[in-house]
Amino acid sequence: MRLILLGPPGAGKGTQAQRLTASHGLVQLSTGDMLRAAVKAGTATGLKAKAVMDRGELVSDEIVVGIIAERIDQPDCRKGFILDGFPRTTKQAEALDKMLAERKLKLDAVIEMKVDDSALVERITGRFTCAKCGAGYHDTFKQPKTPGVCDVCGSTEFSRRADDKAETVVPRLKAYHEQTAPLLPYYNGRGILRQVDGMAAMDEVTRQIEGVLAAL
Ligand code: AP5
Repeated sequence: MRLILLGPPGAGKGTQAQRLTASHGLVQLSTGDMLRAAVKAGTATGLKAKAVMDRGELVSDEIVVGIIAERIDQPDCRKGFILDGFPRTTKQAEALDKMLAERKLKLDAVIEMKVDDSALVERITGRFTCAKCGAGYHDTFKQPKTPGVCDVCGSTEFSRRADDKAETVVPRLKAYHEQTAPLLPYYNGRGILRQVDGMAAMDEVTRQIEGVLAAL
């Protein structure tokens, strides 16, 4: 199965992709995570991407298309994958179409996570992750069971993303509405767009996504 999770920053794409990975064995392909890994490793791509990401703008289509094209050829993607944060522009969507056509693969569904912009600032600024295993938490919505200790690996170190500041959320939302939202009619026209209520509680969002997948 090949899916796209589409929605603004903080919509819950990463949260739900991790759950689908666990329940369906699909690989999560997050261009944001890949770019952050490149920044951390200090690669040429990372150096180019860092300033753009810190401003809340989109990294060039060329860079992200290149990253995804390499990644989907890896053996773990054979069973299927969830694209999280890609495509984000019409150019990227067209490049994805080409990549899939060349490999005789098809997209099963594009799932739009519908959320109100007003909820996103709180979601994004309250987010933190375990510095060791990457498990995601939130100051309000998902705290570790024992404060200060990761539920998954027991680490006591956590980190926050450089672009998760209130002032960076505005340009990130602007980029979504101007450059990514036009993909909704693009996929709707092909009959593969489905919607879930991203404002619902996390388990309910998962239930709705499972409903979409069951109907495919
Ligand atoms: P990226 O890493 O893709 O970030 P994003 O799209 O801004 O999305 P987020 O990761 O912020 O949010 P999410 O939807 O995954 O929400 P999450 O599940 O964490 O991109 C970062 C940057 O990289 C971009 O700005 C750009 O510069 C660059 N980039 C990446 N891809 C690119 C591309 N293709 N082209 C160009 N540039 C690219 O949830 C958020 C929080 O809310 C969490 O704390 C979670 O616990 C909580 N939460 C989740 N669901 C719920 C719920 N239902 N109720 C309550 N809380 C919830």
